[in-house]
Amino acid sequence: MDFIDDWPWTNIFKKCEKMKSPMAVQNIISSSEKMQKVVSLCKRRGFIYPSSEVYGGLNSCYDYGPLGYELKNNLKQNWMNWMTREHESIEPLDTSILMHPKIWEASGHVANFTDPLVDCKTCKARFRADQLDTAACGQRPSKHPNECGGELTEPRLFNLMFKTFMGPVEEGSSVVYLRPETAQGIYVNFLNVMTTSRQKLPFGIAQIGKAFRNEITPGNFTFRTREFEQMEMQYFVKPGTDMESFEYWKERRMQWHYSIGLTKERLRYHQHSAKELAHYAKAAFDIQYEFPFGWQEIEGIHHRSDFDLKQHEQFSGKKLQVFDEASKSSFVPYIIETSVGCDRVLLTLLVDAYDEEASTGGGAEEEGPRVVLRFAPHLAPMKIAILPLMKKEGLPERADKIYQALKKRYRIYYDESGSIGKRYRRADEAGVPFALTVDMEPGSVTIRQRDSMKQDRVSETELESYFEKAFQL
Ligand code: GAP
Repeated sequence: MDFIDDWPWTNIFKKCEKMKSPMAVQNIISSSEKMQKVVSLCKRRGFIYPSSEVYGGLNSCYDYGPLGYELKNNLKQNWMNWMTREHESIEPLDTSILMHPKIWEASGHVANFTDPLVDCKTCKARFRADQLDTAACGQRPSKHPNECGGELTEPRLFNLMFKTFMGPVEEGSSVVYLRPETAQGIYVNFLNVMTTSRQKLPFGIAQIGKAFRNEITPGNFTFRTREFEQMEMQYFVKPGTDMESFEYWKERRMQWHYSIGLTKERLRYHQHSAKELAHYAKAAFDIQYEFPFGWQEIEGIHHRSDFDLKQHEQFSGKKLQVFDEASKSSFVPYIIETSVGCDRVLLTLLVDAYDEEASTGGGAEEEGPRVVLRFAPHLAPMKIAILPLMKKEGLPERADKIYQALKKRYRIYYDESGSIGKRYRRADEAGVPFALTVDMEPGSVTIRQRDSMKQDRVSETELESYFEKAFQL
């Protein structure tokens, strides 16, 4: 069993427990270590915890806390709404994780979804044979596995799919797999969806769901894990229109990444060379983000041709074709796929939003630099912080009245303990875009904007229209 005790984030998490303020983070971690700061913030503020923590954790498995849950939920809703409401030709779908095992034979995953592995005979560590140049020796981390003197075994192919058994008997005939991608559930349902929703080509199917891969080298926090969620859309097109559609979705998906607030300069395309192409792909582009650990893929746009549907026709014996009125003949559509990791984009949002600034104000100078998560307001886990200035003089009652009215529409962060400066800081760290303070001025409140720290005085009767406008921007 692969526990987390020896992995770098554990120490950071442990240190976080002792931390009371961002200053403590500053003392432990140097300013260049942005990734570590993000990880510690995630634990401290309840975005992401290590899974099974009381048992020492389980390598590469994570749990989303209250803020992480809200952020993920907003992200998933945003993606699905963008897909299905901005594109009327796209239908939603939710298929099961366990599917007929033949699906994975047909898709090529049983034969091809493998990584070449080598074992070190000295330290017993296991490495991907194609990534030795970036791996560190288990005993001498400054050396690569092939340079440390340890003898490596010949490469062996290791299938990344998790296997389990369906029913009470654990034998070959009852083996099923946890899906390694959500796409196949869409392919085997494409005729069902097309018929029941009365769509015609070109049309798409969008799905969000868990996928599982027994990755050899998970890492970089939630960047590469063994259990993760994908947000995939498969667009079915007539052969001949495929390249146009591929270009369209490639451009469109980049626009989505801009729309969720990611820094444009940190996004780029990477075109797959013939060597990099997956077994199903005719052409592919990645959208990459520049993480503190380098440029990395966050989404793939794949031209899958008719590979998958033809394979399923062959393995199932069923026709997966569309009738063309013009030519009075049937054909297998081509598929353009957009596939983005939900957990990976969530990590990207956290890294991109994380900021520290020396400027202070609001009475929290003793807390050191201001740590702020600059999420786009429409994705922020909590939308408005409500802060009664004091716990007396009727202020909590007024604040509660405002809370009761606003909570119907917005996720509210209510905080009445500590100095107002400290409370602003806590709200900034949680990425709350607006902090509303109820003070002694009757009938109005102040609203502080997270990013500029600019304050507006707003009449209590105008709060709903103020926020309506603020969240539309
Ligand atoms: N259906 C196509 C497909 O699955 P992929 O490039 O293997 O393509 C698509 O995966 C996306 O899923 C990636 O761009 C990434 O965002 C996410 N992803 C893949 N493996 C992951 C892992 N082990 N952990 C987290 N996210 C992962």
